[in-house]
Amino acid sequence: MAGNSFGETFKITTFGESHGDGVGVVIDGCPPRISISKEDFIRDMARRRPGGHGISTPRKEKDEVEILSGVFEGLTTGTPITLYIRNRDPDSRPYEVLRQLFRPGHADYTYFKKYGHFDFRGGGRYSARETAARVAAGVVAGKILEPLGISVVAYTLMVDGIKAKSINLDMVEKNPLFCPDPKAARQMEEAMSKAKKEGDSLGGIAEIRVVGCPEGLGEPVFDKLDADLAKAVMSIGTVKGVEIGAGFEAAELKGSENNDLLTTDGFQTNRAGGILGGISNGDEIVIRAAIKPIPSIGLEQDTINREGKPAKLKLAGRFDVSAIPRIIPIFEAMVRIVLADHYLRSKAIV
Ligand SMILES: Cc1cc2nc3c(=O)[nH]c(=O)nc-3n(C[C@H](O)[C@H](O)[C@H](O)COP(=O)(O)O)c2cc1C
Repeated sequence: MAGNSFGETFKITTFGESHGDGVGVVIDGCPPRISISKEDFIRDMARRRPGGHGISTPRKEKDEVEILSGVFEGLTTGTPITLYIRNRDPDSRPYEVLRQLFRPGHADYTYFKKYGHFDFRGGGRYSARETAARVAAGVVAGKILEPLGISVVAYTLMVDGIKAKSINLDMVEKNPLFCPDPKAARQMEEAMSKAKKEGDSLGGIAEIRVVGCPEGLGEPVFDKLDADLAKAVMSIGTVKGVEIGAGFEAAELKGSENNDLLTTDGFQTNRAGGILGGISNGDEIVIRAAIKPIPSIGLEQDTINREGKPAKLKLAGRFDVSAIPRIIPIFEAMVRIVLADHYLRSKAIV
């Protein structure tokens, strides 16, 4: 089965390619009478947009969201909502080389092996351009969560081994890397500029926190909240690892160290990351994602061509030096989508 849809009750289907006419999303299952306007999308689309500060790709996309269906007189109608974002700057020329050669670390090889024919321009369907549709859907999901007092914030924890030492959420929007530690943010920026000059790329770690999530979200056994969150986060390109709460560190702890003790005031600690048995426990949900370096780099690399013959590839053109910071609003969007879906599902069951 094709895998372009996600969610059960609040269900999104994304479509489009990076160098086609545009990308978009159909949202089915959104409740009626939620106010939505074009302006609601501006902030998050701008946060995801490339080229904002010289570190990302210089591609300029206006990323205006058109509402094609499902909204009447400013309110959702309960029918499928279609959001569309036109591609306004699709320069395909630098990608001509990829008609023949596979980029190491990228999905060109696997798409070719699976489909035999694919849109190699800028990655087509597997380009980060697709995530513009997810961010738009995340804005609608956020409208469901907002009145419930549920908020989602993502930020950069580490780039190139440079770690945020303090977590001051007030600082996240005050630097281009969405880093809660301004000093670390400056060092990360320097590391990224250096990597860019060297024609290389960098990975990192991001953390996503959900505040105000009530107890009871999550549908065991296969649609556990942590399982769906992990899928949502892992479905974003470059993500190679997902942790909830203590995550991999829990493997090194004893039960007596790892258990979050219950008190009449709630949990004493939050190593569970807000989820037990796949169901939210009312504590903050904490997710971390490991992000690999961007595969397109300016250095010469060994590869093969479509005939399987050895070749050298040196890329020129526009590519991000890291998925950070653009991936940050994408994390927020995907987590909001999961939470909106599970909130609506929980209403149907209990
Ligand atoms: C926000 C964001 C921006 C990205 N920008 C680029 C880019 O400019 N060039 C590139 O080759 N890959 C870029 N990628 C990564 C590829 O989309 C991704 O690595 C590729 O599809 C292979 O998938 P995988 O890394 O999940 O295996 C970006 C990913 C994200 C999330």
